[in-house]
Amino acid sequence: MEKQTYKFSNSSTDFYFDGSINDLKDIVDSKYTIIITDENIYKAHTAKFKGYKTITIPAGEKNKVQKTVDTIITKMIGFEADRRSFIVGVGGGVVTDIAGYVASIYMRGIRFGFVPTSLLGLVDASIGGKNGIDVGVYKNIVGFTKQPSFILHDLSFLDTLPKVEWINGFAEIIKHACIQDADLFKDLQKNDLEFYMKNKEAISALIQLNAQIKLNVVQHDEFEKAERRLLNFCHTLGHALENQYKLMHGQAVSIGMVYAGYISEKLLRFKQVPQIKEVLEKYGLPIALEFDKQKAYDVLKMDKKRDRNEINYILLNKIGKASIESITLSQVEKIIGAF
Ligand code: GLY
Repeated sequence: MEKQTYKFSNSSTDFYFDGSINDLKDIVDSKYTIIITDENIYKAHTAKFKGYKTITIPAGEKNKVQKTVDTIITKMIGFEADRRSFIVGVGGGVVTDIAGYVASIYMRGIRFGFVPTSLLGLVDASIGGKNGIDVGVYKNIVGFTKQPSFILHDLSFLDTLPKVEWINGFAEIIKHACIQDADLFKDLQKNDLEFYMKNKEAISALIQLNAQIKLNVVQHDEFEKAERRLLNFCHTLGHALENQYKLMHGQAVSIGMVYAGYISEKLLRFKQVPQIKEVLEKYGLPIALEFDKQKAYDVLKMDKKRDRNEINYILLNKIGKASIESITLSQVEKIIGAF
């Protein structure tokens, strides 16, 4: 199993792109390891967890909350976990976010690693070190930035991934293409969802490329002072809609992408909204949503990217090139209200 080490400001993450969860025993000491996973993954892959203390949480974003953190911590105390213990989050973004968060606060911080099992987790959610929980409709409003010690990819988990979850993952892949990689956008235009679902080599290459896009950005700007903000493209409105309308993350990001395209059209003369909509639809993502503009704006105002009366909105100059624009909240309100 090949290891690639990525360095961050004061830590590093070992990446195993072609691994299997069976290799976990070579990375961690199973005696001191506690796996956190969700009920769906556990049910579909029970044998893979044999030999590990495992904490199973209910699946879904609505469980990425303090109550679940308390339950996990109580179980860890029950397992007599100490500062030598190692947490491994095996699951999608909810599991890895919550596992990383618990590991960051338990006994003021213990080591952790991830085995992302969803497409979204593989290309985005497991990478970057931001781990946290939601409070009501406010997504990721509480959290901590700490890089995992390792990320192990086992693509056999994709064999049981429902189609909606593939679609969910493609929203972040399309986002990466829009902000950084025009060639990737062309590939996405040429291919479609079914192609990637059936073609193991193509999906493996696509996952590795997207993980590296995110890793490169995070390596340059771990604490989101500049370039990392680009990754927030389409998440400002997306997050404001996601929990209010109980959307999948990818659906929310997709609507956010269309609106970020509209704002880019108005402010930067961006001309490629139709191409973006076409690719989003090709991968099963929504391009329109009836929503209460005022309510969405009220949640959006609390976005972490807000700076007094302005918000750092990520806009597109062209596909493959994004920029950070500081726009007033009233401008955002006006433009969102107009579409
Ligand atoms: N955990 C996701 C990120 O750091 O962006």
